[in-house]
Amino acid sequence: MEKITLKQAYKNYFDIGVAINPGVLEYGHELIKAEFSGITCENEMKPASVQPERNRFTFEKADMLADFAAENNLKIRGHTLVWHNQTGEWMYKDSNKNNLPKEILYSYMQEHIDTVVKRYAGKIYCWDVVNEAVSDIDGEYLREKSPYFEIAGSEEFIEKAFVYAHEADPGALLFYNDYDTENPEKREKIYKLLKSLKDKNIPVHGVGLQAHYDIYFDVGELQKSIDLFSSLGLIIHITELDVSVYKFDERGVDFETLPEDRLKTQTELYSQIFAVLRENKDKIGGVTFWGLDDKASWLNGFPVKRTNHPLLFGRDGKPKEAYGRVTGF
Ligand code: GLA
Repeated sequence: MEKITLKQAYKNYFDIGVAINPGVLEYGHELIKAEFSGITCENEMKPASVQPERNRFTFEKADMLADFAAENNLKIRGHTLVWHNQTGEWMYKDSNKNNLPKEILYSYMQEHIDTVVKRYAGKIYCWDVVNEAVSDIDGEYLREKSPYFEIAGSEEFIEKAFVYAHEADPGALLFYNDYDTENPEKREKIYKLLKSLKDKNIPVHGVGLQAHYDIYFDVGELQKSIDLFSSLGLIIHITELDVSVYKFDERGVDFETLPEDRLKTQTELYSQIFAVLRENKDKIGGVTFWGLDDKASWLNGFPVKRTNHPLLFGRDGKPKEAYGRVTGF
């Protein structure tokens, strides 16, 4: 039987993307081209990567990855414009480390968004405009420790970000992106934010579910998130999919070779996740894996150093059993 690749298997469903960086591209370009229909830059388009200091733009790596995508007919998701991490402090602090006045923050945000979005207009088809602004803390709505929130005092900075991005490229689809979107309390907060943006006619078109899951994840929660967010008329993207073989706070275990039971649980879960995604294909525009293969995954270093096995391709770059289940439905 002829081998079906991921993008072939899903061509009537949704785009299948992968987050890459220059190191992964060097050894993985053939696999990327064969299996995926799009890419996201893992770090290279984040604020700290493209504008480490005010008005010093460094686009070399981002351009290199964007050129690779263009040459090979791959779509590009832009990630990300406004985030409290991986952003130069100049964006929100003065030289004495005090928060900037609001008007200055907004003007710096606008300069950044305008420059980056216009550079890739027509190439990047969608942007994660704001990443992770909603709080994980019980009873706290937005992340109040973020300098953006400290300065803005409300969700206004989120609204501004979307407006600036839309002005810079009216053709791009604009997303709010977050993790733990399947946690019931956080899901409600994200819904509240998105509803409020929609009610104010802010140009937001989609929501990115990062989907950093582990093998104990309950797919029923994924269906609930898809239902709730799509009820607002938003497109759903799965933006950073991986399935850790450890519980987040599990310590004292580090499997170089994964025990059969965990491998089996992961294989089953991948199969279930994609069954849910296929059933919702009219609501889902794309599914992106956060890394090409197990050795390239950020989960080998986060939240602790351990050998993780979260993706469909193993350390040897070969497809795992889960790959067969995801492509052979
Ligand atoms: C978050 C961010 C991503 C990336 C991952 C870990 O989910 O959105 O850009 O940093 O964490 O790699």
